[in-house]
Amino acid sequence: MRKKIVAGNWKMNLNTDQGISLVNDLIKEKIDLKYNQTVIICPPFTHIGSLKMLLDNNEGSKIQLGAQNISDKASGAYTGEISGEMLKHLDTRYVIVGHSERREIYNESNEMVQKKVDAVLSSKMTPIFCCGEPLKVREVENQNDYVQQQIEEGLFHLNGETMSSLIIAYEPIWAIGTGRTASAAQAEEMHAFIRSILEKKWGSEIAEDVTILYGGSVKPDNAQELFSQDNVDGGLIGGAALDANSFIDIIKALA
Ligand code: 13P
Repeated sequence: MRKKIVAGNWKMNLNTDQGISLVNDLIKEKIDLKYNQTVIICPPFTHIGSLKMLLDNNEGSKIQLGAQNISDKASGAYTGEISGEMLKHLDTRYVIVGHSERREIYNESNEMVQKKVDAVLSSKMTPIFCCGEPLKVREVENQNDYVQQQIEEGLFHLNGETMSSLIIAYEPIWAIGTGRTASAAQAEEMHAFIRSILEKKWGSEIAEDVTILYGGSVKPDNAQELFSQDNVDGGLIGGAALDANSFIDIIKALA
């Protein structure tokens, strides 16, 4: 079943104490989630253990833990890397894979992203697979081909059953951290296109099940319009997830 999700990507922000304080504020709000709604926070690796304890003591909060990255390797001599098993052990359920900042700044190729998708799945967690075009591609209206290639090379090796539980996040790079959001119509157009790619490959039932999030300057004042589009199933939130009040307002915008 297709879920409605708001996920916060904290990126490299907040120390552990600040993260605990933010999550305490979210817990205090006692947000009422419907059966098909999920809230995920993706803090830096160093905070996950403390936040797991906090959330374990406040089960009613229903906030789920995600990570921002994963090693493509299972274990061994890979200095500085974090494995799927390590994350799973801390009750991490979701992992962002292929964020544009990792693709662009750390040169993660589609091939590497595919390996990381597999690493997440083999530890029985759910990938949040990011795709999205840079401004120069949008300017020449080549965004569909660009995103299609990312999806083909990152996900087409999966079978339908696995695919149906995946989360895709469309994040146009020109809208990330820039304050320039894709319009609701632009987001809907791309999300519908992504769903059509899924349908051609795996059939309409599976395509209908996949949650497709929009990311890129989602704020309390534009969340509702974006989330009300047929193919927009929620958001992957950067800057606005660092402030409890904005994040709560965005969660409330889930229909
Ligand atoms: P902003 O919401 O800060 O634009 O970031 C979006 C993002 O990259 C989420 O992964």
